Amino acid sequence: MTRVCLTNIHKSYGSHAALKGINLDIDSGSFFTLLGPSGCGKTTLLRAIAGFHQQDAGEILLAGQSIGALSANKRQVGMVFQDYAVFPHLSVFDNVAFGLVQQKVAMPDIRTRVQAILDTVQLGQLADRMPHQLSGGQQQRVGLARALVIRPKVLLMDEPLSNLDAKLRIDLRRDIRLLQQQLGITTIYVTHDQEEALSISDQVCVMFDGVVQQVGSPWAIYRQPSNRFVAGFVGSNNFLPLRQQGGQLAQLLGQPIELPRAVQGQPAVTAAVRPEKWRVNHPAAGPGLQVPGVLRQAMFTGRELQLFVEVAGHGVLEALTAPDDAMVALQPGDTVTLAVQATDIQYFAEGDTGVRLA
Ligand SMILES: Nc1ncnc2c1ncn2[C@@H]1O[C@H](COP(=O)(O)OP(=O)(O)O)[C@@H](O)[C@H]1O
Ligand SMILES: [Mg+2]
Repeated sequence: MTRVCLTNIHKSYGSHAALKGINLDIDSGSFFTLLGPSGCGKTTLLRAIAGFHQQDAGEILLAGQSIGALSANKRQVGMVFQDYAVFPHLSVFDNVAFGLVQQKVAMPDIRTRVQAILDTVQLGQLADRMPHQLSGGQQQRVGLARALVIRPKVLLMDEPLSNLDAKLRIDLRRDIRLLQQQLGITTIYVTHDQEEALSISDQVCVMFDGVVQQVGSPWAIYRQPSNRFVAGFVGSNNFLPLRQQGGQLAQLLGQPIELPRAVQGQPAVTAAVRPEKWRVNHPAAGPGLQVPGVLRQAMFTGRELQLFVEVAGHGVLEALTAPDDAMVALQPGDTVTLAVQATDIQYFAEGDTGVRLA
């Protein structure tokens, strides 16, 4: 069982600080995801754990042992890459056997272990194929088998599904999660795809600009974002300027609203409402806010109906509803009302990473 601890990791490329003091504590056996936009430092952090480069400062502990002095092949970590990184001139079997041959494992053992791991990733029948005879999804299964066959203490994956098409991506992500749970292996996974992160992880770490913004369960990250960046990056959100009127009163979308205590008197505040929290042409279930608007665009995606509603003087808001007959019949230009319960409005201090106040 392997717990991973990172303390105060810094890494710069020239004058550019890519990691600015990362502290993480990753539970043994958990599926832990680094989520953030391109350039936020995810790959830099993963490569430091793998030992492909050295951090400038800070310590990495695997099961309580510092691995800073160990080269990559001594760290007992397996790595899966976005571009599969399979050797084109080697068969599936030889690709997977490669690490064991290097470790000078005896041939009969290699055969047993490679066949077992190929069965595990559902490639048991394809051991003799060459990489060019495999689909992208199968090539990535080879990548996974190659990382796992050395029995790593920790599995690292850097955007392993990004080169696959949508349907395959979802199938393989289920398989990866099932396999990880079966093996109980501590896994650190990198993605810029928030839906993928929510669906696959025990814990999600949201990063931005070389800094950890929040660590929590997928539900906590979604429901209780710690700051405005997380609220906007994970899922979607309507951010709305708030006009305070002293005490507990304010104006939101031109309507009066009562503020939670933690927001009262705060100078610059932005409110946020998730698209699915609007009730369209329906009163809110409890006290809250109701605004009239004009439907500008409707997009039916099968599972849901995405509505873009203009509120005069306040721009266009997004609402998501279940697509029943009445909703689907709505036409651009129709007047609609949007209502939201007060408890479904969140409030953030202004600025890119303004903290959540309520
Ligand atoms: N080898 C490098 N030399 C210089 N800058 C780099 C190098 N690798 C990454 N960077 C920069 O460091 C930042 C973090 O990069 P990276 O860790 O690859 O981000 P992510 O994986 O989240 O997209 C980015 O601004 C990137 O341009
Ligand atoms: Mg990257």
